Amino acid sequence: MQTRTVCGAVLVGVGGVVGGWWLCGWLREQWQRGRRARSKDTGAWGDLEMLKPDSGASKDEVAERYARLRLQHGDNTICTLSRQVLTSVLGYDPSDQESPVLQAFRPLKTGTHCSFAKRAVVWACHGSFSLETISTGACGIADGDDVDAVDATLRAMALFASACHKIDAFVIALPPASTIQEHGSNVRRLLTWLSDMDPSGRRCMAKSVDKSRWVFTFAGNEFFITTFAPCYPRQSSRYQFGVRDAAFILFQPYHSFLLHRVGVETSRSETNYTHPANVRDEIRARFARHGSPYFVPEDPARMPNCHQAVSPLTLHAPAVRWWLDTCPLSRHTLQQLEVMGWKEEG
Ligand SMILES: *[C@@H]1O[C@H](CO)[C@@H](O)[C@H](O)[C@H]1NC(C)=O
Repeated sequence: MQTRTVCGAVLVGVGGVVGGWWLCGWLREQWQRGRRARSKDTGAWGDLEMLKPDSGASKDEVAERYARLRLQHGDNTICTLSRQVLTSVLGYDPSDQESPVLQAFRPLKTGTHCSFAKRAVVWACHGSFSLETISTGACGIADGDDVDAVDATLRAMALFASACHKIDAFVIALPPASTIQEHGSNVRRLLTWLSDMDPSGRRCMAKSVDKSRWVFTFAGNEFFITTFAPCYPRQSSRYQFGVRDAAFILFQPYHSFLLHRVGVETSRSETNYTHPANVRDEIRARFARHGSPYFVPEDPARMPNCHQAVSPLTLHAPAVRWWLDTCPLSRHTLQQLEVMGWKEEG
């Protein structure tokens, strides 16, 4: 009798704990589900909302979403999306070659001495995207169409970055800076915003940008960044071939270089400008032949990537410290900084 009562009490106790635990779990799940549904309605990310670090989506759910977005292209395992799917997911078609941004970018793409760029598949930001309508750390501060354009661009960038499509680059239009400092500041604002909105939560712009190990990352992918602006003269590799009403920032995933077999990075003294050893050297040689050589480091692994993002106006102009507030110019050229071990001194 006594034992049965004790057993009963223990059972009720255990039942209560299990029941309570189960109820808690169920409630939490309902809350998360509701939150997910709500954010799906109102969130800037729409269909890609679950990519955000706080979405509560599991790894399997994200994988399943990607599987649904992925379309086979014949036997090719590297996926492509149809334009209809792109438009429905993003709200615009970033691959549209007739879009205002890609039309504005065309003179650069065809005029450049980079053989790789001419063939590259490039996506672009929304035609109404503007640096004026983004704000660091917050999404959707502007109204109406501007918000839609900014959010759509962010979704396109995330899709471009996190899925293995055969897209070589993503271009975002920037205001047409007439000075290198203005341009550098614009680049910093855009990259800081992207870094704040990074679905992976890595926030690369909060790290030491001027260190050799720094690389721009977004949605778990690493990018080589180049920027162009009307302030660059003809003898710069960032010259815009007459485009005066916009500047551009180009994101190239490093896997794209591998895919195109661009070749290993050779040092300046090893680069054979008359008989280039690979595509990478050939690009260097072509720019040099056309009177717009760019800086090639002697030890490529040591050169901080930040100096490639915003190039000095010419080979002999001061380096641009664009990651700092107000974008000060260095007292040194890239060649001098290299001799100094890439440390700004004095
Ligand atoms: C470049 O390569 C060619 C052919 O291999 C060679 O004859 C030439 O000496 C090389 N030039 C330099 C500067 O290394």
